[in-house]
Amino acid sequence: MLLEDNQLTKDMDESRQGEVFSDSKSVNPGERGHYYIESYGCAMNFNDSEIVASILSKEGFAPITDMFAADLILVNTCSIREKAEYNVRQRLREFDKVKKERPGTLVGVLGCMAERLKKKLLEEEKLVDMVIGPDAYRDIPNLIAQAEDGEKGLNVLLSRDETYADINPVRINSNGVCAFISIMRGCDNMCSFCVVPFTRGRERSRDAFSILAEAQDLFDRGYREVTLLGQNVDSYKWENPENKEAVSFAQLMEMVASIHPDLRIRFSTSHPKDITDEVLFTMNKFENICDYIHLPAQSGNSRILKLMNRTYDREWYIQKIDRIYELNPDCAISSDIIAGFCTETEAEHKDSLSIIEYAKYSMSYMFKYSERPGTLAERKYEDDIPEEVKKRRLSEIVETQMRISFEHNQKDIGKTFKVLIEGNSKKSDQQWKGRNSQNKMIIFEKLGKHKPGDYVEVKVNSATKATLLGEMINS
Ligand code: 5AD
Ligand code: SF4
Repeated sequence: MLLEDNQLTKDMDESRQGEVFSDSKSVNPGERGHYYIESYGCAMNFNDSEIVASILSKEGFAPITDMFAADLILVNTCSIREKAEYNVRQRLREFDKVKKERPGTLVGVLGCMAERLKKKLLEEEKLVDMVIGPDAYRDIPNLIAQAEDGEKGLNVLLSRDETYADINPVRINSNGVCAFISIMRGCDNMCSFCVVPFTRGRERSRDAFSILAEAQDLFDRGYREVTLLGQNVDSYKWENPENKEAVSFAQLMEMVASIHPDLRIRFSTSHPKDITDEVLFTMNKFENICDYIHLPAQSGNSRILKLMNRTYDREWYIQKIDRIYELNPDCAISSDIIAGFCTETEAEHKDSLSIIEYAKYSMSYMFKYSERPGTLAERKYEDDIPEEVKKRRLSEIVETQMRISFEHNQKDIGKTFKVLIEGNSKKSDQQWKGRNSQNKMIIFEKLGKHKPGDYVEVKVNSATKATLLGEMINS
């Protein structure tokens, strides 16, 4: 799941300042100054910013949405494609302007770019004061103190056990209804195109009971949907130190889903090699576990999948798709597809188009291959597909997916769905927006007395390739 590269973290929820599970001393928010934070990349990164917000508020920093008034500017970065890093470099130029206007302001780079570039980032970006990797956020207070004394701070140590389990994220990115919960960190998969194993380190699963406590706390505060996050949620495995029993992802889902039938559960991302029947059975057992699986194929061709080190082939992937629809015909499936991976032929590209048709994805995230330094693919294969060809293949993939999404949505016309209201629609405060179990956005006129966080029944009357339009029934 990748959020828009330039999405900012706004709507700071100041009422949640200073909430951390562990109980050491804290100072009042604002006593030390104000911080401004921007996040890029995946949902995990946005959730990490909420962990950072929690650490900062405990240190006496309060959030602010005007960067020109901030004492501390943080940018949580993504390295997944070259473009993501380019965008951050552009933003750093804007922060330079703030530093010129307000010379005492500190600038820190967090996240995957910090981890990938390490000291080089401090050398290249002269106005950056701190570079902090994804496993080093607890060290932020020390690094700030160091930077306040005029010494640049660097901590990019990766950890084998850090999960920030005891830190209750401050929900700076939230609509008050839906929240992300990180259940694991890192990735051991080594897909040949991917920089994540290098920037986020080894896979580790978080204490199941701390996840349960976080979900319960969210529910008690009115949240009605949690998304369990991990680079590869199906390999979640946590051993209970008390009885040495292992908790699997399916068991964790069951624990969280049992909190309350009104708490919806989503999860992301699933790896086709790891998703089990046990997970699919658990999804069927609980009405509040959403009928939606993000199951990235990356390519529809077996030779390319081998080069990508995905450890499954086209036939295996197709069997997984068949099994999901066999057990749950109402399940929506989405995907990630990469266009123009090293040595991909025209016929192999067509296999990616046909996998979209076969799997009938409700939607996909689609990308041009971007070579990342240090990855297996960069070291072993030539990035030999010309930019123009990558572009054209990507637009064919996008066109195919748009058509399939449109058909998928047209099939929903006339159906009635249970929808969780998330807030006003973008276009009008006379309309609600919300999603059904299949993760489809539905827009409908307000009727009766409802509020975000309520469930309503909505009948779909029409559909575009991106959205369903409907009307509330039994309001
Ligand atoms: N180039 C293009 N897309 C990539 N992704 C990961 N690495 C690359 C890369 N080097 C895509 C994959 C992944 C999603 C999060 O980003 O499709 O699933
Ligand atoms: Fe998330 Fe990967 Fe980007 Fe890091 S590189 S922010 S893990 S998408």
